[in-house]
Amino acid sequence: MAQNSNESKIPQHVAIIMDGNGRWAQQRGLDRPEGHIAGVESVRRVVKAAVNRGVRYLTLYTFSTENWGRPAEEVNAIMELFCRSVIAEAPELKEQGVEVKLMGDRVAFSDKVNSYIDKIEGETAGGTNLTLVLAMNYSSRYEITDTVRQLVAQAAEGKLSPEQIDADYISAHLYSRNYPDPDLVIRTGGEYRLSNFLMWQAAYSELYFTPTLWPDFDKTSFDEALEAYAQRNRRFGLVK
Ligand code: IPE
Ligand code: IPE
Ligand code: MG
Repeated sequence: MAQNSNESKIPQHVAIIMDGNGRWAQQRGLDRPEGHIAGVESVRRVVKAAVNRGVRYLTLYTFSTENWGRPAEEVNAIMELFCRSVIAEAPELKEQGVEVKLMGDRVAFSDKVNSYIDKIEGETAGGTNLTLVLAMNYSSRYEITDTVRQLVAQAAEGKLSPEQIDADYISAHLYSRNYPDPDLVIRTGGEYRLSNFLMWQAAYSELYFTPTLWPDFDKTSFDEALEAYAQRNRRFGLVK
């Protein structure tokens, strides 16, 4: 992207549906987990690019609630890869001022995976350049259902009345409550769907779809997405 492009056209929050790892591996005659391993390289590249471009929040769809339904070998390989990546990436993330946060229900993870989540969140706490949100065991419907359940419980105890509930109130109680809505949602891998990702938060996000498989998504691909975003005219339902 041209260096002189308007700074305000840089999205504050980019969210990515990192899809296509399995196909990338299969195209090479490799097992699907090899695609996930290659996908970690893309994560490293894109985090660096996001920091360089001044993006403030980067949310990565890392593992959906539905992904538990994949064969156990693949699920285990992804969980192991997450733990290994925490060890390998923590120093560089810290150095870049990246703060890592998990978004999703942690109850489903093994003690081991939870200890690595604690480790990466603890070691990177206080990073001020980029908040890297890993959506793991995340799905929008689960998030909204869980939130509604908690609000109804408060109402049942007489601590919440219907009049208090508006869209801002709901936003303030979702898992994503500490982050602004994404300005730009990118999906790699050629599919045109959200697959249960940030359905509330993406109400007015700009959507960008690319056929590039996630392991092939590099700094240039990221810049192309930012360039496309910079050309968009966001109206939020108003007349310009
Ligand atoms: C995305 O790649 C990574 C996860 C869902 C964990 P896929 O594994 O879905 O790759 P494809 O879509 O099968 O190629
Ligand atoms: C979405 O990709 C989930 C993640 C990228 C973690 P999927 O591959 O699971 O989505 P579908 O099955 O193509 O909708
Ligand atoms: Mg997929």
